[in-house]
Amino acid sequence: MRVRTDPGFAREQDERDELAGFRSRFVIDDPALIYLDGNSLGRLPVESATRAQRLVGAEWGQRLIRGWNEGWLGLAERVGAKLARLVGAAEDEVIVADSTSVNLFKLVAAALQARPGRTVVITDDLNFPSDVYILQSALKLAGPAHRLEIVRSPDGLTVPIETLAGAIDSDTALVALSHTAFKSGSVYDMATVTAVAHRAGALILWDVSHSVGAMPLSLDQAAVDLAVGCTYKYVNGGPGAPAFLFVRRDLHDRLHNPIAGWFGHQAQFEFTLEYRPAQGIRRFLTGTPSVVSLALIEPGVDLLLEAGLERVRAKSVRQTDYLIALWEALLAPVGFTLHSPRDAARRGSHVSLGHPDGLRIDRALIEQMHVIPDFRYPDHIRLGVAPLYTTYTEIHTAVMALRTVVVERLYEQYPATRRGVT
Ligand SMILES: Cc1ncc(COP(=O)(O)O)c(C=O)c1O
Repeated sequence: MRVRTDPGFAREQDERDELAGFRSRFVIDDPALIYLDGNSLGRLPVESATRAQRLVGAEWGQRLIRGWNEGWLGLAERVGAKLARLVGAAEDEVIVADSTSVNLFKLVAAALQARPGRTVVITDDLNFPSDVYILQSALKLAGPAHRLEIVRSPDGLTVPIETLAGAIDSDTALVALSHTAFKSGSVYDMATVTAVAHRAGALILWDVSHSVGAMPLSLDQAAVDLAVGCTYKYVNGGPGAPAFLFVRRDLHDRLHNPIAGWFGHQAQFEFTLEYRPAQGIRRFLTGTPSVVSLALIEPGVDLLLEAGLERVRAKSVRQTDYLIALWEALLAPVGFTLHSPRDAARRGSHVSLGHPDGLRIDRALIEQMHVIPDFRYPDHIRLGVAPLYTTYTEIHTAVMALRTVVVERLYEQYPATRRGVT
């Protein structure tokens, strides 16, 4: 794409954007607010607000306990089946449950049990730190012989496949990675890495939190064993919405949920004292789901299915390419560095820009420029593009605001102190 840096160019792109109509399907009560944090918490779909009222008022308020037999009991599977279409899986291979962290723990512990004699889990230092904590805690429970090996990225952006492959051998029980890295936004070639793990006899687990809803995924085609993912980012499921897990069908009966609970029981309401796992993906459930949050995931999934992930990805690539072209012309000269891959095929839907005063710039953007990005230590300003509602004009305005904050030294008004959520 040949890019011009004037605002007219952004307007022209918005006019010819075939997904532009989806923006009106979201609640946008302050059109002047430039929201570039859909990679952390997606916007509220209009339909979710309506659904929330019905859920609370009619389903909970009027139907009370009867709600369980009128749809709540099968909700985790029903919404999971829809999410399966976003990740390239069969309907009975995905279920909604718990949080990403808890699902990760369950699947890692199950994988370790399924690979006796192998003691190593491989991950990389681009992974979400909480995922690493979960791996460490699951390994601690597995016994003193088990250990985690963290492959280091040479540049903080990516890990070359050869480096990863060099770490995987006949001791490897599991390779657990984030598909799209939370800081740099770099994306692994899922099929290639999965094949490398399988050649060594290891299982693979992908955390697709920063990919799902931003690009098509092909878990089945890539022969992936296990995956977890988040629904409150590009899926627009709402703050703290439950996560999902994927287990390839032929593994269902071979893996055991380490937090076995009544929702994963074959006959939940027989209340026997003996645990008998349900057939299929349901065995990875544990306890009562958060029905309201779970139900509110569905409108966001429906919007993505309606738009089509190929079109979502095509717009995401165009918009992140545009953002990088603007960075090169307008922001690199005033001290910003690019902390994301330039190659669109290796990049997710956010672009990270580095600056030594990043934290103070982030605050100035939020407090003076009405622009919301987010910030990850030590110096990453993340600009998330959510193609269903992000406009080219917003991207242009945000870049101009970043430039103004630095050129006019507006960030100097803010201390470099950390706050809760950045
Ligand atoms: C890649 C990744 N994995 C896991 C998590 C943790 O998810 P949760 O806190 O919902 O368990 C996050 C949270 O942002 C994430 O970005």
